[in-house]
Amino acid sequence: MTKTLSKKPVKSGLHQSRIDLSAKSRSQLVDLLNGSLADTFDLYSQVKQAHWNVKGHQFYQLHLLFDEIASELLEQVDELAERATALAGTALGTVRMAAAASRLNEYPVDILEGMDHVAALAEAFAHYAQIVRENIEKSDELGDADTADLFTAISRNADKRLWFLEAHLQAES
Ligand SMILES: [Fe+2]
Repeated sequence: MTKTLSKKPVKSGLHQSRIDLSAKSRSQLVDLLNGSLADTFDLYSQVKQAHWNVKGHQFYQLHLLFDEIASELLEQVDELAERATALAGTALGTVRMAAAASRLNEYPVDILEGMDHVAALAEAFAHYAQIVRENIEKSDELGDADTADLFTAISRNADKRLWFLEAHLQAES
């Protein structure tokens, strides 16, 4: 039997805390953080998928680049989860939770060549970066400069990595 899982971030109950942000704001912030945690974990696994399966004459440099990008994403997963718990929320960070909540499309399995992987990752990064950028403003509106700052740092890095990926494609078009 297949269960249909909701794509909406799961509502996360808050623990008691002395933190000076309202529970109402924190509840929404934790949802933003968990949504982004899911996307980031999903993107991490997609970049690893490319790292393992890429072929072609640029194999080695792409294999290394993809691993570097994946390591950064894994660090960001940790930062997002720990911001959710710092706000007295519950981090929803298992692979299954991430798979259920991620808003990214599934990574293609029928590609091999380096530039096809670069293009597939550029698509995923562009979508990812767009959601992260929206979260900067939403966090700001909820009165949390620190979460906005975390999303800003992640957004800046996503833009940089999109540039690294697209630089492979721009000279050929
Ligand atoms: Fe590896």
